[in-house]
Amino acid sequence: MSRLPEQFLWGTAVAAHQVEGGNVNSDCWALEHASPSVFVEPSGAACDHWNRYEEDIALVAQFGLNAFRFSVEWARVEPEPGVFSTAALDHYARVVDACRELSIVPVVTFHHFTQPRWMAALGGFAARDFPARFAAYCARAARAFDGIGLACTINELNLPVSAAAYFQSRASDAHRAAAQVALGAPLDAFFLFTPADAILGNGLEAHRLAREAIRAERVEVPVGMTLAISEETADPGIEDRRDARRERFYAPFLDAACNDDFVGVQTYARTHSRADGSGPLPGAPVTTMGWEDRPLAIGAVCQWIGSRWNVPLIVTENGYPGFDDARREVFITTALAGVRSAMADGADVRGYFYWSLLDNFEWMLGYRQRFGLVEVQADMRRAPKRSARSYRSQLFLNSCPDLDVR
Ligand code: BGC
Repeated sequence: MSRLPEQFLWGTAVAAHQVEGGNVNSDCWALEHASPSVFVEPSGAACDHWNRYEEDIALVAQFGLNAFRFSVEWARVEPEPGVFSTAALDHYARVVDACRELSIVPVVTFHHFTQPRWMAALGGFAARDFPARFAAYCARAARAFDGIGLACTINELNLPVSAAAYFQSRASDAHRAAAQVALGAPLDAFFLFTPADAILGNGLEAHRLAREAIRAERVEVPVGMTLAISEETADPGIEDRRDARRERFYAPFLDAACNDDFVGVQTYARTHSRADGSGPLPGAPVTTMGWEDRPLAIGAVCQWIGSRWNVPLIVTENGYPGFDDARREVFITTALAGVRSAMADGADVRGYFYWSLLDNFEWMLGYRQRFGLVEVQADMRRAPKRSARSYRSQLFLNSCPDLDVR
């Protein structure tokens, strides 16, 4: 019997390091302060979500959504190997409770790019005992949180493989030397730089062990991983290149998800293959991230997965980066139309989470990218954008009456 909730999940997402602030014991914080750093600026206080989570969850409820995806920070929960922080576990238990008090389903991610410094010093995902250590942390955390709705083990496990060329291009020899000093390990120990063999080996094993560990603690909680998947198209005659990308970057992970309760699909844009390479469709409009502005990509991806794999899908991230909030409104409307059309064609989609609730720390690109439904002002005041209000009106209220939408 499916463990998934009966109602369609309408949500928005954040990740601990990008919003909480002061995540000083993580490998990411260490890398931000390396000199030179691959990060354009440090995360600092981020959005102060650590202290303002109640206010933020209240906004989720105010927008009419019934789910909130956030991540638990391993570096806070297990500051030293085998030493668990009751204070940090209690904090996240309160976040789960705050969601439940407002009838919001908490969707908890256990690894969203960052890890404790000590784990990086041991080699990160490539460390022989990474899967066991990660699963032990997941077990301890899952035991502490009563009321989790869904669990995502690892966020975008495939990203270091699919975006390897991009990440490698950002790191010079000087960056690598400084990272070695900051981490006590090569830059490869940071999740985004993990070599493909470690992702396909230890990474998938870590997901499997974590899934079993979470299920052992919380039999009722559906567990899956999330994947970064681009819509893939090709010039006529170049389909082989497109297909090779799909087989290398996505298929092994979707195959591995056959024993999961769902797959989290995270799509932002399209990658178009041409005779001379793959990238944004030439001449197409691009966002501030340099990605094609392509709201229909998410529907196309759901359709593609649904045509080949028999696993429920949840859109755990989809969003528009940019200052133009009117465009964000159009993006959301169009993306939802695409998802609806994929569902009409048989894709088993169980939820949609807009990335992100807040303008936040966009990793190596810092605070210059704006994905949020809510602007975070210099004094940390939250200013909801028009797109936040219109998101609710876009919900499938009329077109899918069989879906139980709050
Ligand atoms: C990640 C988020 C990130 C977003 C936009 C995804 O790769 O899960 O943390 O902010 O995309 O780049």
